Amino acid sequence: MTTTLLHQSPADFATPLLVIFAADTATTKDSPATPTLLNSSAAIETAATPWLTSADFKATLGETFLLPAPAGIQAQRLLLIGLGKADKLTPHELRKAAGVAIRFARPRTLRTLAITLPEHRALPAAASIRAIAEGAILADFDIDFYRADRKDLSIQSLTVLSASPITEALQTAFNEGVILAESQNFARTLINEPGNILTPTELGKRTAAMAKDFGLQCEVHGIDKILELKMGAFASVTQGSPQPPALIVLRYEPPTPPSANSPILGLVGKGITFDTGGISIKPAADMDKMKYDMAGAASMIATMRAIAQLKLNVRVLCVVCSCENMPDGHAFKPGDVVTAMSGKTIEIMNTDAEGRLVLADGLHYAQTLGATHLINAATLTGAIGTALGQINAGLFSNNDETTKHFFDALTITGEKFWRMPATDDYRDQIKSQIADILNSTGSRYGGATTAAMFLKEFVGDTPWIHLDIASTTWLDDPKPWQSKGPSGVAIRTITEWVRSYAS
Ligand code: BES
Ligand code: ZN
Ligand code: ZN
Repeated sequence: MTTTLLHQSPADFATPLLVIFAADTATTKDSPATPTLLNSSAAIETAATPWLTSADFKATLGETFLLPAPAGIQAQRLLLIGLGKADKLTPHELRKAAGVAIRFARPRTLRTLAITLPEHRALPAAASIRAIAEGAILADFDIDFYRADRKDLSIQSLTVLSASPITEALQTAFNEGVILAESQNFARTLINEPGNILTPTELGKRTAAMAKDFGLQCEVHGIDKILELKMGAFASVTQGSPQPPALIVLRYEPPTPPSANSPILGLVGKGITFDTGGISIKPAADMDKMKYDMAGAASMIATMRAIAQLKLNVRVLCVVCSCENMPDGHAFKPGDVVTAMSGKTIEIMNTDAEGRLVLADGLHYAQTLGATHLINAATLTGAIGTALGQINAGLFSNNDETTKHFFDALTITGEKFWRMPATDDYRDQIKSQIADILNSTGSRYGGATTAAMFLKEFVGDTPWIHLDIASTTWLDDPKPWQSKGPSGVAIRTITEWVRSYAS
């Protein structure tokens, strides 16, 4: 999709489809909907007003109303899209509504459209322009790559029309929205790939190719390096699979070298390209979904892509531990004791709790490479979905300050994370009789926190955030602004978290 930001009156812009936003300005809960256009063009008002008072269109969030061949304006079609209640309006509604515009156009094979930047005091221009760019590009993603009857419905050209002149700040906001959403779609493409195609080796190749394109340093190591580093936890997970593992390290150096004691951010991702559960094998139902058990890795790789394009002024490194979790004569077993890179011994209670094992070594390794702050993302536990449903993802941390950086980032991106406890009260849940810790309790209670407590053993005093994205990484049903399938959650927020440490 080519994207252009233009200072132009919407009525004068010739396009197959012109999108105008409206909000419901009704002042009390009980008064009838009052759909109001958020643009002050007389010609558009003349074309649309009869339909705003007719109850055909109430401007609820994502609601659409098409006016073909409107008189007095250059566009062939005028599409009204609702943003919901005006007094609840934020740029986050706009992100969704811009997605609705794209998903309206695609099945109608309208490949060119224009979206008018709405004018409202709750919609600052820069944040709104960025939200439109993000929402539109995210909505243009689909999952049907392997279908012979696939029709390419992708949008070729989007123009965003602004009533005020395009300042440098507005153009930057637009470009950033494009970068962030394209990076998110890059991750979604990886997450959607089946396990037979996206093996750890293939993930390494695609990461290296991306790194070359965007000027990141990249190393992809195999089992020899994993054993040399004494990553016994990671090595135990991969040993049941004939597919070679991949230890991927990305480094980003900012254009101006930061001072010696400035932070180095360590991004760590769980890259299980297929999780059968291993010897503690999973039930057949839904096992196909475990191709997306590398979503944490994809998120971190995509975040590095965004950081490189945004040229943020902070050092960042990324460690991805990628392998399959398979049952086999060579596979690790319940009861085994393995030694992590940090030296801690782990009693394996359940081979399906494999994500925390690969992350333990990834988190430790990132610190040895110099990370002063850690963040990891992982499809770690089914229990996080039991706790939070599919709306909020889980956040665990040992540090309130870095958590605040993350929550501040959420106000920019509109993503939803809920902080869960990982205090030492829960430490008993990982106590083992025969080793330093065990990898799973078998208790039904607090499973997502048990996993977090396990990870916490490997971060020491380093400020650390663990994001459990197991229940938010895959959308089972499409939304009006989003395809079903991989959501690409966390990338935009982690990027803003990184930016919050930039000088
Ligand atoms: N990859 C799974 C977690 C998962 C579940 C991700 C559902 C996405 C959707 C993880 O490796 C796992 O199997 N966790 C176990 C842990 C248990 C054995 C302690 C779980 O959640 O059941
Ligand atoms: Zn598992
Ligand atoms: Zn897993």
